[in-house]
Parts: sequence; C-alpha cells; structure tokens
Amino acid sequence: MLRIVHLLSATVWVGGTIALVFVGVPAIRDLEGEARAAAMRALGRRWRPLGWSAMGVAIVSGLWLTDIHGGFNRAALATDFDRTLILKSALVALLCAGAAVHDYVLGPRLQRELREGAPQAPSTRRRLVAVGWVNLSLTLAVPVLGAIVLTYLD
Ligand code: HEM
Repeated sequence: MLRIVHLLSATVWVGGTIALVFVGVPAIRDLEGEARAAAMRALGRRWRPLGWSAMGVAIVSGLWLTDIHGGFNRAALATDFDRTLILKSALVALLCAGAAVHDYVLGPRLQRELREGAPQAPSTRRRLVAVGWVNLSLTLAVPVLGAIVLTYLD
C-alpha cells in the first residue's frame, strides 16, 4: 500500500513536470504580452499546490519505506541499498531546493521585472530556464535511482 502511495505521488510529480515543460509552457510561449504573463501565472498557481503536495507525499512515504526496510537501523552506507538511497535523498534535497528557487524566487522575480520593463529581465529568464533544466534532469534521475534501490531489496 505504502509502495503504491510512493509510486503514485512520484508519478504525479514526474508526469506533471513533463507535461508542464513540454506541453504547458511551450503553448503559453505562443502568446504575447499581458496574456502570456497571466497564463504563466495561472499555470504556476495551479501546478504548485499539486506538485508540492505530491513531492511531500513522496518524501514522507519514501522515508517510511526506508524505515520499514530497516534503513534507519543500520550504520549509514552499510549496504548498496543504503548507499543508493543516500544518493537518492541528496538528489531529492537538491531538487527541492532547485524547484523552490525556480518557483518562489526566480519565477516571481521575472514576472515583476517583465511588468516593470526592467533591463535585467532577459538574464533572469536565462537563469530561470537553466535552473528549470537542472530540475528536470533531477526529476528524471530520482525515480531511476528509486528503481535501482528496489533491485537491492530481494
Ligand atoms: C527523501 C525522499 C525519498 C526516499 C527516502 C525514498 C525512498 C524510497 C525507497 C526506500 C524505495 C524502494 C522501496 C520500496 O518500494 O519498497 C523507493 C522507490 C522508488 N522511489 Fe523513492 N524515495 C524518496 C523520494 C522519491 C521521489 C521524490 C520520487 C520521484 C519523484 C521517488 C520515486 C521512486 C520510484 C519510481 C521508486 C521505485 C518504484 C517502487 O517503489 O515501486 N522517490 N523510494
């Protein structure tokens, strides 16, 4: 049951991210001016509660699964299971930090700079996009490590 919750929440984060990056954002890029800004804002506002809830559920269920498999009772780095899980958890932490910077720092900053016609808007956009690609890579790497972790269980 817990495994199903973990897998489903991971699916919502990964699938949602891919739909956002390859469907939502490119569709909005065809718009211009205020319509584009409003559509980007709406997309972010609707995705954030769902995406971050899914991430929260994945983290809690993942820590719980780790406990069930005795991961907290051994010396850290004792087995391949532990080592892979620690790497995975580090990437999850990086991903959360990157997604927070993307969603709550650079995203709102770009919106504000575009509204004010600020000259640094293009450089903020480049940084936002760069952080976004790093986050997408981590979003793909984390479930791959999850599947590898699973192979050490039997
Ligand atoms: C600190 C956070 C996390 C921890 C401690 C963790 C822990 C685990 C553990 C122990 C397993 C294998 C055990 C089992 O299924 O019984 C697993 C599998 C998996 N995890 Fe995580 N996880 C975390 C976050 C995530 C996130 C954020 C994602 C995806 C966005 C993810 C995706 C997966 C996938 C795809 C599997 C393999 C499929 C499966 O369990 O059936 N995990 N994780």
